[in-house]
Amino acid sequence: MPRADRRWDPQHLPDLTGRSYLVTGSNAGLGYFACEQLVRAGARVVMTGRNPNRLAAARAAIHRRVVDAAPALVETLLLDTSNMGSVRAAAASARMGDRLDGLLLNAGIVHPPKKRETTGDGHEVVFATNVLGHFALAGELLTMLASSAGRMVWVGSMSTTVTPYDPVDPQLTADYSGWRAYVQSKVATTALGFEADRRLRAAGVAVTSVVAHPGYSTSGLTPGIAGVNSPSKATRFADNLQALFSQSKEHGAWSLVRALADPTIEGGEFWGPRTGSRGEPRRQTAAKITRDPEIAARLWRTCEDVTGVKWPMEEAAQASRR
Ligand SMILES: NC(=O)c1ccc[n+]([C@@H]2O[C@H](COP(=O)([O-])OP(=O)(O)OC[C@H]3O[C@@H](n4cnc5c(N)ncnc54)[C@H](OP(=O)(O)O)[C@@H]3O)[C@@H](O)[C@H]2O)c1
Repeated sequence: MPRADRRWDPQHLPDLTGRSYLVTGSNAGLGYFACEQLVRAGARVVMTGRNPNRLAAARAAIHRRVVDAAPALVETLLLDTSNMGSVRAAAASARMGDRLDGLLLNAGIVHPPKKRETTGDGHEVVFATNVLGHFALAGELLTMLASSAGRMVWVGSMSTTVTPYDPVDPQLTADYSGWRAYVQSKVATTALGFEADRRLRAAGVAVTSVVAHPGYSTSGLTPGIAGVNSPSKATRFADNLQALFSQSKEHGAWSLVRALADPTIEGGEFWGPRTGSRGEPRRQTAAKITRDPEIAARLWRTCEDVTGVKWPMEEAAQASRR
């Protein structure tokens, strides 16, 4: 049987008791449902987000919907991925925890501004939120992940196949469009996920880096949950018209959760829904541009220069051996 077809029931995950995960963008969408699925399987989850009220609402929703979730299983932590100070502070808090088995780098601007905007740090906001913050967070938590032989999962997108832009100007200083900003950020995220795996292997760090995507997952097909998902009637109507080739965010989270928690998955793999846009998780082939090591190495240098974060490979390799 091909490895990708090995049994994995996304509705009945293996027991994850004792495992600990941190998810970015936990208060809504795919991040929320990934947290819910992990908690349902017994894992401890650190839900992160940039707004304390939205985070509290999401945590309360998990406690309502997962009846046997012990309060200690769900923690919240403020983290704005577009803000380097916030990333560093959140990473410092997360490092106070006992262990970290997995990091789901999910937060993202999905509907970018029409005109180019920059963050307080001076970075283009989509690249900062979707890419730079995650690169920095993964570097800041690498040694902790290595101590548990953990995994990081980067969230890509089918859009990288539709318009495979080369992010030569990753912050789009010259020729900004919202679509280009989004797709470039996802090309970068995916390429960095594969590059991370190459570098971690080369350095002997016992951390796997995997890329996953959720297909086409809409809030109009997703259960209504107070404080988490309350689409308008018009959104429900429009999203239902696309139901044949889309799915709920609850189901979209399946591929991300499998990429995070299935021990048979290896670093450098790419996972997404069966048909590409919907369905149960399957191993897939990522867009060619995201597999180009030269583009990935260039992006890696950019991320190091812009964030000032260099991944502590030696320290992490030592932590892997302890
Ligand atoms: N849905 C799809 O079909 C699809 C397809 C391909 C890839 N993806 C990827 O999947 C991920 C999640 O998408 P989604 O559909 O779940 O989107 P969503 O429903 O809009 O949720 C996005 C999440 O990211 C958070 N976020 C945005 N900016 C942030 C920041 N600066 N700091 C921290 N958190 C921030 C949001 O928090 P706030 O509530 O505070 O804004 C929210 O929790 C994204 O990376 C997206 O690119 C989605």
